[in-house]
Amino acid sequence: MRITPSVLNADFGHLADEIARVPSADAIHIDVMDNHFVPNLTLGLPVVQSLRQATTKPLDIHLMIEDPDRWAPAYAEAGSDAVTFHIEAAHAPVRLARELHSKSAKVGVALKPATSLADVTELLSEVDTVLLMTVEPGFGGQDFLNLVLPKISALRNLISAANLDIGVQVDGGVSRETIELCAEAGADIFVAGTAVFGADNPDAMVTALRAQADGAIERLIAAAAGLAA
Ligand code: DX5
Ligand code: ZN
Repeated sequence: MRITPSVLNADFGHLADEIARVPSADAIHIDVMDNHFVPNLTLGLPVVQSLRQATTKPLDIHLMIEDPDRWAPAYAEAGSDAVTFHIEAAHAPVRLARELHSKSAKVGVALKPATSLADVTELLSEVDTVLLMTVEPGFGGQDFLNLVLPKISALRNLISAANLDIGVQVDGGVSRETIELCAEAGADIFVAGTAVFGADNPDAMVTALRAQADGAIERLIAAAAGLAA
């Protein structure tokens, strides 16, 4: 279970300091928005390049931009550990995934809440993670969309059936109230923005969220063992 705090709702004037507040994070989730794919504008390559110098934490880049085929490779070249692009925006997703891998980045493909898993089924063997948006992308602090839960389960089943080793990342409205639902459905990487950076102690919240996700899975396993016995 990996917790990847999003700095979207952190203090953009002190991003490196904000990242230093979550030493327990498995990676730092950076939301790149271009005001075209989503109605919000955040940061771009120069800031990611600077953050790469400022922290040794893995950087998990979530590109909410048009034409990732053109722009995504530079984020891999900048030393990002993982680069995730949206399937709705990519023109040649297989070629893009392979190009990102050739630049030594892990590759993620993201789906908006209403985008079907069918749009990425053929791509699964080419990626390391699938990011399922659990809010409409663009802003932090939105309510978790329960309607995505069946898609999380369906994706986990597809991955298991194909015997693939792929992370299932959820992003949007993930909190103490919703993380167990996501874990039970099959997610294993959790983006949390407001829940972490809105907390009095962000690092304690990272640890608490991970423990909750772990606990949910332990209970599932115990219940399954009980049924089998
Ligand atoms: C939204 C971003 C998310 C956002 C999550 O489009 O992709 O990463 O920061 O923020 P919360 O956790 O507040 O929903
Ligand atoms: Zn994100």
